[in-house]
Amino acid sequence: MNSLSNIDNQSLRGFLQMVETDYPEELLRVRNAVDLKFESTAMLFELDKAGRSPVVLFENIKGHTMPVLTNAAGNRKLLAACLGVKPAELPTAFRERCQKYIPCEVVDNAAWDEVVIEGDAIDLTKLPVPLQFTVDAAPYITAGQLSARDPVTGVDTTGFHRLMLKDKNRLGVSLHSRRRMYEFHRRAEEKGQNLPVAITLGVHPLHYMGSMVYAYPQNVRKFEIIGGLFGEPYRLARCGVADLEVPAAAEIIIEGEILAGVHEPEGPFGEFTGYASYRSTQNVFVAKRIRMRRDAIYHSVVSGMSQDHILVSCITREGEILNALRRNLPNVRAVHVPHTTCGAFMAIVSMKKIAEGEPQMAMMATFGTELYTKYVIVVDDDVDIYDMNDVMWAVATRVRAEKDVIMVPGSKSAILDPTSDPQTFTVTKMGIDATKPAGKDFAERLVISEERRAHARSLLESAGVKL
Ligand SMILES: Cc1cc2nc3c(=O)[nH]c(=O)nc-3n(C[C@H](O)[C@H](O)[C@H](O)COP(=O)(O)O)c2cc1C
Repeated sequence: MNSLSNIDNQSLRGFLQMVETDYPEELLRVRNAVDLKFESTAMLFELDKAGRSPVVLFENIKGHTMPVLTNAAGNRKLLAACLGVKPAELPTAFRERCQKYIPCEVVDNAAWDEVVIEGDAIDLTKLPVPLQFTVDAAPYITAGQLSARDPVTGVDTTGFHRLMLKDKNRLGVSLHSRRRMYEFHRRAEEKGQNLPVAITLGVHPLHYMGSMVYAYPQNVRKFEIIGGLFGEPYRLARCGVADLEVPAAAEIIIEGEILAGVHEPEGPFGEFTGYASYRSTQNVFVAKRIRMRRDAIYHSVVSGMSQDHILVSCITREGEILNALRRNLPNVRAVHVPHTTCGAFMAIVSMKKIAEGEPQMAMMATFGTELYTKYVIVVDDDVDIYDMNDVMWAVATRVRAEKDVIMVPGSKSAILDPTSDPQTFTVTKMGIDATKPAGKDFAERLVISEERRAHARSLLESAGVKL
């Protein structure tokens, strides 16, 4: 695994090269033998507990020759570097760039054209697919970007969907996020047709980030959003399944279809909620052809509540909600979707409130933008929304429950949220206005000026205290 062939700036290996050259401390090459059963995932969680989140390349997987790359998107510094900005500028840069749609370029030669496997030779169980948690029903392909065209408009999409290894050519798939792919499959099923799908494995983190965008016009391709993130046309190549176009620099392509009207048990699987998920749309994908690079790297996303699984969701949700709020509320400062709320279920909004009722507008706009968000806390701009202690202090001291809490029962929510109704997948959403009354006197917050703090630090230093 020392030299990689065919490196392209839009590829996973291009990203790897950037990390190795510019951030060598953020790349961990594991050369000793590692078992696909539980070991790689447990190692990543131990690194996380120690406050580290490097990209990890397992070069020696027991029983396999293909290396496994994981945690490609679990590091804020590296994601920011992909966009050429500082970590603090990431949500804003992401928000701006993913609205600059750039038409794709279709190229004739794809890196994954080197090896072609068809018919009876197809055997997905030969891929080094980790078994991540003891509850998982089987090994899961977790970094599969599924692409398909809308059977009505022809516009395509791309997004991650978990894939359960069932047989040599059969994968269980869950489309529970109910976004484009779910809808495309529903539309195909309505016509009594299977949905042609290509699974792309091994993409650049900017593809991962762009694929998580959900609020954009119906006629725009997600690949055009990803092009916006790259700042140049995303290079695609045709892959044969119903003329689908997939990233030309990817590692592995699995062509096939999601069957109409067929449902089979799928799961349980260790999900981003930190729970075993037994809920699934229980769809079935059948593989027709595999194509890959000769020296393909197998990409896997660490599942459960890992950084790899959640960090991009935090950033994309922060960006999407901020976009929606800024349209009507120019004094919204920032949005934080904390990792501890699974990168999904809570949004904290910072605003400079000018008039009463603005926090309520912010709550409704957030609920209308992001179906996964079930709690919104709005705070004044003197509160540090990245410090949960400060947020909880604002809730404790500024909220009058009888006036400041709103509930929206029966709201569409996440299928995987364990509190959502098992039949309708609805929840009661809650907004908490933790802002002070506008324009009125309110208890005065205790503050120590920056100047005094700096002086205090220097006094402490002279007293021999290291801060
Ligand atoms: C690592 C990862 C795994 C995911 N797995 C699933 C999944 O199994 N099913 C699903 O519906 N959404 C899943 N999602 C969320 C979708 O990828 C996301 O909502 C995406 O925007 C959907 O794309 P689409 O609009 O093409 O359907 C996952 C996201 C990540 C980051």
